[in-house]
Amino acid sequence: MKFDVLTLFPEMFEPIKQSVIGRATKQSLIDINLINIRDFSKDKHKKVDDTVYGGGAGMLIRPDVVYDAYKSIKTSKSKVIYLTPQGKRLCQEKVEKLAKEEHLILLCGHYEGIDERVLEKIVDEEISIGDYVLTGGEIPAMVLIDAVSRYVDGVLTESSVEEESFSNGLLEYPQYTRPEEFEGMKVPEVLQSGHHENIKKWRRKESIKTTYIKRPELLEKVNLTDEEKRYLKELKN
Ligand code: ADE
Repeated sequence: MKFDVLTLFPEMFEPIKQSVIGRATKQSLIDINLINIRDFSKDKHKKVDDTVYGGGAGMLIRPDVVYDAYKSIKTSKSKVIYLTPQGKRLCQEKVEKLAKEEHLILLCGHYEGIDERVLEKIVDEEISIGDYVLTGGEIPAMVLIDAVSRYVDGVLTESSVEEESFSNGLLEYPQYTRPEEFEGMKVPEVLQSGHHENIKKWRRKESIKTTYIKRPELLEKVNLTDEEKRYLKELKN
C-alpha cells in the first residue's frame, strides 16, 4: 500500500514514523511519501495561498499549486481522498475497504481551505474523522494511515485484527493479565479453566454486554443467535 500525502506541513507526520507504522514502513509493507505542496509554488516567496474572492476572513490554498503537486504523483491506480469535516465520517468498514486500494493520495487542507475547483477536479472522496473542526487535515490523514495500515498484510498478526473491537460489529471483551488478584479484584475463573469452548462463549457474551453498555446502537447491525438475543433481553431487564 502506498500513501502519498499532499500537505503544507510534512514535519507534522513524525508520530507515524514510530511503533507499528514505523516498523511497517521500514519493512516496506507500506510506503508513506510526504509531498510538500509548497514545493510546487511558482512564486518567488513560495507563497501558496491567497485571499478569498467575494471577501471573507482567512486565506485559501491556490488550485494550481495543489494540481501540480497532485500531477507529480498520480497514477492510473490512485484514489484521492480529501480530509475535511464536510466528508463522510470514517468507520471501520470504510477503513477495511480503503485497505484494498493500491495507492491513496491524501490531500490535507490547512488555513481556511482549498480552492473548490481543484477539489472538483481531483478528489474522489471526502472523509472526516468526526464532527469537530481541526486546524488541518494532517492529524486526520495520520488517523487514516494508521487505521488502514493495520489491515495491510504483515503489519499486524492476523488474530489481532480478527478479535478486536468492531471486527464482528461488537466491541471487544475485557482482557486480563497477571497478577491473578489486583486490589481485591480477581481474574474471572473461566479464563483460568483452560476450557476453550467455555472461554469463547464467555468472551462473546462479554462482548455483547460491553457493546450494550457502551455503544448500544451498534447492536442493531449485529446478527445474534436466539440464545444471544435472550441474553441481551436479560441484560435490558
Ligand atoms: N480537517 C479539519 N477537521 C477535520 C475533520 N474533523 N476530519 C477530517 N479533516 C478535517
